[in-house]
Amino acid sequence: MHTIMHLQEAIPKGEFKMIDLLSLDKNSSTHLYIQLAQQLKKLIKEEKIAPHTKLPPIRKLAQKLDINNVTVVKAYDLLAAENTVYKKVGSGTFVAPKLEVDNESPHLDEEVYIDEDSKFDQQIINFATAAPSPELFPVQTFKKLLNKVLDRDKGYAFGYQKSQGYLPLRESISNYLQNYEIQSTAQNIQIVSGAQQGIDILAKTFLDYGDSVLVEEPSYPGALSVFKAKGAQLIEVPIEKDGIKIAELEKKLNKSKPKFLYLMPNFQNPTGYSYSKKKMEKILDLAAEYNLLIIEDDCLNDLNYSSKPTLPLKALDNSSSVIYLKSFSKVFMPGLRLAFLIIPPEYLEDILLSKYISDIFTDGLVQRVLDLYFRQEIWTEQLDYLQQTYQHRYEVMVKSLKNHLPKEVSFITPQGGLNIWLKLPDTLTMEQLYNRALGAGVKIATGDLFYSQQPCQNRIRLSFAAVEAQQIKNGIEKLAKIIKDLLTKNNDILPPL
Ligand SMILES: Cc1ncc(COP(=O)(O)O)c(C=O)c1O
Repeated sequence: MHTIMHLQEAIPKGEFKMIDLLSLDKNSSTHLYIQLAQQLKKLIKEEKIAPHTKLPPIRKLAQKLDINNVTVVKAYDLLAAENTVYKKVGSGTFVAPKLEVDNESPHLDEEVYIDEDSKFDQQIINFATAAPSPELFPVQTFKKLLNKVLDRDKGYAFGYQKSQGYLPLRESISNYLQNYEIQSTAQNIQIVSGAQQGIDILAKTFLDYGDSVLVEEPSYPGALSVFKAKGAQLIEVPIEKDGIKIAELEKKLNKSKPKFLYLMPNFQNPTGYSYSKKKMEKILDLAAEYNLLIIEDDCLNDLNYSSKPTLPLKALDNSSSVIYLKSFSKVFMPGLRLAFLIIPPEYLEDILLSKYISDIFTDGLVQRVLDLYFRQEIWTEQLDYLQQTYQHRYEVMVKSLKNHLPKEVSFITPQGGLNIWLKLPDTLTMEQLYNRALGAGVKIATGDLFYSQQPCQNRIRLSFAAVEAQQIKNGIEKLAKIIKDLLTKNNDILPPL
């Protein structure tokens, strides 16, 4: 059942009338700030709020509607951007004198991306980002658990924390990892502030200037940048649909002594490919033979849309060759900056020291809240919800691609994750495609971002993390049309940029 927030409480008269006419539906798929902006705009248009009337102060309106201040700020910003209201510094927000009624205002009817500074980005179907949609974040549950933590732990949640991480959380994670067939204990888990910090800490621990590192080709740019920044030489091993090319890996191991091999064995970023068990075993054999350390970055494993279970490489690691890194960014909330490492005993001391000298510890408050997710058994619910949501988006994207792309464009359907990796004909230049698509309101990630050496000219990564189903359909149709037009070089019929 939908929860409707309706206002009855008394506040100054003019405001009361206005606020009393607002009702937001927290369960609607439309953002609350868009609902609020739409309703205010309607009241203004219907002259129920006179020109130059001051809108309720942000905090007061937020309180009365039981929403965040930020939601009201965003709604007012949205109205200001289309001149429905105006702002007076220090005085507030006022109804603009003449409303240019725009019945098809795109700002209010569709999703708008607003950055942290509440500035408007252009409306865009963003297939370039693999960051999850904020409307999927479990804000209400988080709020409840946050309050529990605050009531329970009070100031202790804000004090200096153990550098290795909040012990109950490490225990919860260790128990939870049994679902992935990974054996660990709280003692060999290090909580880190996001997987990016995990990668940085590992690079800091193991790399000196001029060392070499083996990476998949293509790979996650955030990791490549860290390794390069440490002065490492990157040795790329091409990946195919069941994992990196083993013969190439062996050849490179014979020629060099890399400090480690950085891998994403399940739903690899950017390709979406997953390693076969056979390849995983072979890689572990090679690791034992060549005394090779492996860093497994496993941020998408939970988003499996097939009936075939996926196993982390770490689950097969009997000789402590693998340091396992897992982020909560894609399946929880990236803003919390939460991830963890499982560290074989021989590397523990050095890595713990690197974390300590990086930032001493990861935010204790959010660690405590995440721990309650596990202890109150809400975590599986959270995963199921996201898994189902993303699976729907995934199915829509795969179907749209199959229906609309010309035959010259190919892709291997991944079994999970957030990305689809397209191969385009060499006759297309990615820059041209990127610009055309952006001009039509569709943003894509071009393949060159994911290679450290040779720029690959004919690949793009499409992510459905931040785009809802209908927008996926629209975006893929537009993109396919642009590709077809570029392929036929019939530039004249392209829509104006
Ligand atoms: C493969 C991979 N590793 C690490 C990260 C960084 O994640 P976090 O937000 O936890 O720092 C990302 C982010 O997209 C990623 O795709």
